[in-house]
Amino acid sequence: MAQFTDHKALILGGSRGIGAALVRRFAADGAQVVFTYAGSNEAAATLAAETGAKAVRVDSADRDALIAAVAAEGPIDILLVNAGTAVLGDPLTFEPDAIDHMIDVNVRAPYFASVEAARAMPEGGRILIIGSTNGDRIPFAGGAGYAMTKSAMQGMVRGLARDFGPRGITVNSIQPGPVDTDMNPASGPMADLMHSFMAIGRHIHADEIADYAAYLASPAAAMITGSMQTIDGGFGA
Ligand SMILES: NC(=O)c1ccc[n+]([C@@H]2O[C@H](COP(=O)([O-])OP(=O)(O)OC[C@H]3O[C@@H](n4cnc5c(N)ncnc54)[C@H](OP(=O)(O)O)[C@@H]3O)[C@@H](O)[C@H]2O)c1
Repeated sequence: MAQFTDHKALILGGSRGIGAALVRRFAADGAQVVFTYAGSNEAAATLAAETGAKAVRVDSADRDALIAAVAAEGPIDILLVNAGTAVLGDPLTFEPDAIDHMIDVNVRAPYFASVEAARAMPEGGRILIIGSTNGDRIPFAGGAGYAMTKSAMQGMVRGLARDFGPRGITVNSIQPGPVDTDMNPASGPMADLMHSFMAIGRHIHADEIADYAAYLASPAAAMITGSMQTIDGGFGA
């Protein structure tokens, strides 16, 4: 613990779920943590009071506000892009705006935030994007748009790793399988189907994602870059 003393971590989408676990983990490890949120005012305030982190309301879909918020927090040692949405269901029924919004939050925001953070990021910095095992494999109907966003991020991770590698900055994605959060509750209607695809048939705990993020942000992971780190209980095996 306390491995991130003197490090500043910015977590996009930190009020709930995996993001809240990231806030708790990096704060416990000594980092100065700032996190964003869009709508969950109460959860954000409670988490900030609990951890000592600073909460900032910024909608990741608002490109210019996001870029300004990232710039205002710089220099950032560790950027964790967690904010994401999932529009799942029959593609023939979706309003185009719903898909565009998902692309804004899941693809455009990680790109613009990563580039902005990198401007002032010190040598040895870390950029970590929460992707999904569905970027590799989508074994059920109704996930085309979501999978599209998570696959798009893979190309970005590989490319930015090349751009920032000469400065010792690593860029990686963590690709979870089913994680027990509001987005995908372990008690939800999709749970049994999800578990049927897995080698270890249970939801992942958000803490398990945060533990791995802490490893990837540590000096021990200095040579891991441009990679997709999958934690999915064998969902994609
Ligand atoms: N749960 C899973 O099974 C699973 C599996 C694979 C990948 N993932 C990925 O993991 C990430 C987090 O998922 P989760 O399950 O923790 O989701 P969640 O429980 O729905 O929480 C989403 C978090 O992101 C924030 N957020 C959403 N839209 C935002 C926006 N436009 N601007 C700023 N913040 C925003 C939310 O903040 P507010 O509440 O304040 O809006 C909340 O803190 C996503 O990228 C998701 O695709 C999840």
